[in-house]
Amino acid sequence: MAELYNTPNLDELENGPWPSFVTGLKRLASDSHAGAEMARDVLGTLETSYVTKKGYWKGGTVGVIGYGGGIIPRFNELKDDKGEYKFPAAGEFHTLRVQPPAGMHYTSTLLRDMCDMFVDNGGSGLIALHGQSGDIMLQGATEETTQTIFNTFNDYGFDLGGAGPAVRTGMSCVGASRCEMSNVNEQAVLRTLVNAFLDDMHRPALPYKMKFKVSGCSNDCMNTVQRADFAVIGTWRDDIKVNQYLWQSMVADKGRSYVVDNIISRCPTSAMTLNEDDSVTIDNKNCVKCMHCLNVTSPLTHKYIAKGDVEPILATGDDKGVMIIMGGKRTLKIGDLFGSVVVPFMKMDTADNLEEIENLAGEVIDFFAENALEHERTGEMIERIGVVNFLEGIGLNVDPNMVNSTRTSSYVRMDTWDEEAIKWFENKAEVSA
Ligand code: HEM
Ligand code: SF4
Ligand code: SF4
Repeated sequence: MAELYNTPNLDELENGPWPSFVTGLKRLASDSHAGAEMARDVLGTLETSYVTKKGYWKGGTVGVIGYGGGIIPRFNELKDDKGEYKFPAAGEFHTLRVQPPAGMHYTSTLLRDMCDMFVDNGGSGLIALHGQSGDIMLQGATEETTQTIFNTFNDYGFDLGGAGPAVRTGMSCVGASRCEMSNVNEQAVLRTLVNAFLDDMHRPALPYKMKFKVSGCSNDCMNTVQRADFAVIGTWRDDIKVNQYLWQSMVADKGRSYVVDNIISRCPTSAMTLNEDDSVTIDNKNCVKCMHCLNVTSPLTHKYIAKGDVEPILATGDDKGVMIIMGGKRTLKIGDLFGSVVVPFMKMDTADNLEEIENLAGEVIDFFAENALEHERTGEMIERIGVVNFLEGIGLNVDPNMVNSTRTSSYVRMDTWDEEAIKWFENKAEVSA
């Protein structure tokens, strides 16, 4: 067992109610597996960083045979006067990006095997499920162990994900397998796209990264609109299904003013009317599928169901499909961008539909490869060349249903609403003072 360094600064990060990566690393460092010393020396390096206020990790080139991407190299720059590593066991601390299963379903056996495969081959034991990249991240391997760890995972059926200027690992929400809001087989869409562009994932050959993400409805649990160059979001184009009996039971229970205040008046397009007999009318042509009324009624349904097997209070329509939104990204050359709705509706029920989306994605990747500048995301390219040129380039006609800027409502989370509201009023008062 490796003896831990004294790390007073890092210890501070163990305070507070959250799980701490420091506690995790200490546990790994105190373990008996071969990579335990890596975890110990990473703690030593990080503690030094907190003292000197400098970072000591630099990138480089590390790969496995046949792949150009998938490994994020980290070399330790913390060396003594003779050029020797101060923390030799963490001289190299590379990360393997491993693609998760679509929808991120695991069995507990698989999770245990994954841990064993990592540490038995010399890994540090530090695993992250999942980073923003969506990958399973095996953090802490040397150049030598990277190949062995990869081989073991690959034999098990896992593959590396994307890194660098490549198609990146895709993500899909848990969707159809568990969520009643789902409008599409998210996993099938994701798998189609991943399988079709796996080469572009393994061999970075694009101007910059390109991301696919799939959410089953506009709750957008995958944050596709903000993060994906090619966002697929499930939707419907017929009417929201209303179970008037359950709706009326809800109104009787909660009261008209509660329902008006919390559901009817919060519909962003005022598409809902509470009728005299407590039933509801939805002006579906004006519904923008914001999901609010569905989200708030969904957890109440079970309260009013008298005898099982009843439709929920509200449900998404039957004529389901997807919309495709392109160009979302975080800050880089220009600020954050939401994607633009490029395909307002596309059916996604059959193999032909999947082929259609695959072909469109192919057009987008080809156009991006040829027209984007180095280090430019799709959204930046669209801003630079104009959306009309982009649409022409990928072979789509302009459609009035396309939306340039999607919902303008804030996507900032406000879990502590009341406190945030007080701060907001205080800030406002300060500004006007
Ligand atoms: C105090 C120490 C550290 C902090 C605060 C930190 C912070 C972060 C954050 C915020 C991210 C983005 C996370 C996400 O996308 O989910 C990240 C990603 C990453 N970090 Fe660190 N990091 C630290 C130490 C390290 C060390 C020691 C290494 C390796 C030597 C490392 C390697 C990586 C890698 C490879 C990623 C990419 C993960 C992905 O694919 O999503 N980090 N780090
Ligand atoms: S995006 Fe929609 S369908 Fe997917 S998990 Fe979230 S709520 Fe469910
Ligand atoms: S989904 Fe949103 S826009 Fe549509 S009726 Fe419900 S609250 Fe209104």
